[in-house]
Amino acid sequence: MSTGEGTRAVRAGLPEPQKYEPTLPGPVFAAHYHLPGEPTGPYTYGRDSNPTWTLLEQAVGELEAPGETGVETVVFASGMAAVSAVLLSQVRAGDAVVLPDDGYQALPLVREQLEEYGVEVRTAPTGGDAQLAELDGAKLLWIETPSNPGLDVCDVRRLADAAHAGGALVAVDNTLATPLGQRPLALGADFAVASGTKGLTGHGDLLLGYVVCRTAELAARVRHWRKVVGAIPGPMEAWLAHRSLATLQLRSDRQCANALALARALAARAEVTGLRYPGLPEDPSHKIASEQMRRFGSVVSFDLPGREHAERFLAEARLVDDATSFGSVRSSAERRGRWGGDAVSEGFIRFSAGVEDTDDLVADVLRALDAAAD
Ligand SMILES: Cc1ncc(COP(=O)(O)O)c(C=O)c1O
Repeated sequence: MSTGEGTRAVRAGLPEPQKYEPTLPGPVFAAHYHLPGEPTGPYTYGRDSNPTWTLLEQAVGELEAPGETGVETVVFASGMAAVSAVLLSQVRAGDAVVLPDDGYQALPLVREQLEEYGVEVRTAPTGGDAQLAELDGAKLLWIETPSNPGLDVCDVRRLADAAHAGGALVAVDNTLATPLGQRPLALGADFAVASGTKGLTGHGDLLLGYVVCRTAELAARVRHWRKVVGAIPGPMEAWLAHRSLATLQLRSDRQCANALALARALAARAEVTGLRYPGLPEDPSHKIASEQMRRFGSVVSFDLPGREHAERFLAEARLVDDATSFGSVRSSAERRGRWGGDAVSEGFIRFSAGVEDTDDLVADVLRALDAAAD
């Protein structure tokens, strides 16, 4: 049956109904399973497999690659576990990898690891499809679009076609967009990778990661990596994540509407500069974002005039938690420069719109901006 994406999110990964069984079976807590005789079958030891992961993996695969056959999903303990699993399992000493130079701030840590293992790492910005120029002879292209925290967008199809023409694999970090915002595999990628900690699960109460692989062969290496490093999600986290998928469309729709309303309100403020939101028609990324995204995400970035100004704004906002991370039902924001590592100004704010009533959220932000300017 062909369904809309809200219906798909509600039913994703659910087993066939069975009398007296719950719709979504509860978390299976097991380090090992009854296993007499030859150690074969789907469930042997808890680091290798778990029925709660199986259902979640099915669900994420249905959202990331609806209707595509042969696709396999592997869930991880965190987004970084998933990112590292792809980068470290697919390349060998002597290979070249192309990374964005404006991606998530822990990516340079993986870069250091790759270089220690003898992998050549090339970097280029996300905007303007600048990674194209670095592809010659590369084994793997890593894309992060929209990029965190600068919100630049690149043309995934164009980059994937060029990478494949040269024999490279393509991975896309889909964390900011979520599968309801963008489907990297349909745009040509071999891997859709994400932190499920953010918008996918959306309540700011668990860490999770996943890799959706185009083929079983690619998935086998990623799954083997998970077994070797043991970066497995707990059954409770996996179950909570699956439970949260049912509201993914509702949450995403409200978050994106709130992010756009905020971006519009911020655009009218004299003290706000460097405003970025791919959903804003005047944003430099809007054209390509509209072609490859179905929703533009919950994150809005902007500059306030300096560190103190930004800190006053964060302290004044009542409906906005001063916290890192993004994609939660509760709005949050942070002065990103406090971590170091990102090429941002001292007054740069990464704002994540939650699901509050739009008018309340916009009013709170405008009031906090007024108070911060005094
Ligand atoms: C784009 C992106 N990728 C990966 C990660 C890592 O995810 P996690 O914190 O779940 O390890 C993050 C975290 O903020 C992120 O923003």
